[in-house]
Amino acid sequence: MVTRKLAVLAAAAAAAFALAACSSGASTATSSSESAASSSSASTSSAAATAAASGGASSSGAPAAAGGELPPVDPAVLKDAVIGFAQVGSESGWRSANTDSIKSSAEEYGVDLQFTSAEGDQAKQISSIKTFINQGVDLIAFSPVVETGWDAVLEEAKAAGIPVVLTDRSVDSDPSLYKTFIGSDFIAEGEKAGTWAKDEFADATEVNMVVLEGTTGSAPANDRAEGWANILGSDPKFKTLASQTGDFTRDGGKKVMEGFLAAYPDIDLVYAHNDDMGLGAIEAIEAAGKVPGTDIKIVTVDAVKAGMEALSAGKINFIVECSPLLGEQLFQASSAVLAGQEIPARVVTIETTFNQEQATAALPTRLY
Ligand code: AHR
Repeated sequence: MVTRKLAVLAAAAAAAFALAACSSGASTATSSSESAASSSSASTSSAAATAAASGGASSSGAPAAAGGELPPVDPAVLKDAVIGFAQVGSESGWRSANTDSIKSSAEEYGVDLQFTSAEGDQAKQISSIKTFINQGVDLIAFSPVVETGWDAVLEEAKAAGIPVVLTDRSVDSDPSLYKTFIGSDFIAEGEKAGTWAKDEFADATEVNMVVLEGTTGSAPANDRAEGWANILGSDPKFKTLASQTGDFTRDGGKKVMEGFLAAYPDIDLVYAHNDDMGLGAIEAIEAAGKVPGTDIKIVTVDAVKAGMEALSAGKINFIVECSPLLGEQLFQASSAVLAGQEIPARVVTIETTFNQEQATAALPTRLY
């Protein structure tokens, strides 16, 4: 894993260098790529400050990029281009917003989008990608269900001369097998959640917490756990009573939380790897006669509308944003790749965080 991340950073630096050599907009692209390469957490925190000031999104609704700038779409390149997109599934509000963003950007640019949904099944997603290869599409994009097991199909795409773009989630394959990875810094998200918890419970002597994990083996579940541990792992007062996957779904979060509540009468804190599982946990907590947000504090990741409403109502205490609006950036990358241009190997989405007051203020204009 570490080797893979170092390889990605090295590739990002190399791509930034290539941009510097051949583009007049090189200084911006180079410096932002280099800052991503130097420290993902640090660059994300300063990026988050910028995002907070700017509302976190461009006028198209797409989040701005912190680590690596993409050139604007050339509509003539994308018109009628055949692009295969293999989506994870439809597990969450975040995923629906992500699918909508990709489909509406494809429509805007006249792309012939071949869209498939794997419903959380890696074998199904691999089979979709193989179908795209056999069809001879111009470019393949996908958001991988899990991080491992992609080498063979990526080699196949490369051998067929079809470029691949990763969005939302990354893989542990060699970065030479894909053109770029556009998406959030999930480790920084976990760190932001952990930092909130550390501050919130600064005066407590013991904190009994439970974790609702995302899909086992997925990049966001792995990295959000890692980021959380980076902040709280060495603090003995935070005791993890239980940690189990709720598969990023509301139902999963509810069922797992029901089990936690039955086994542990004194839970102080829930860390849910996404809003949907946090919303499921709220249902379970209320059914158990407790008050979510008061008796049991909840911190989640995503900031979809339903999560923000629960935060505004005081049922969730803090949300770390993860933007699903990746359609514009996906087609910026696709346009550049199909035009034969170099692009940064990593594009990190700029995101912010919300407390109750900030959620209430943001809700009227929230896009998803
Ligand atoms: O990969 C992004 C994660 O996938 C979102 O945080 C979660 O809601 C979704 O299912």
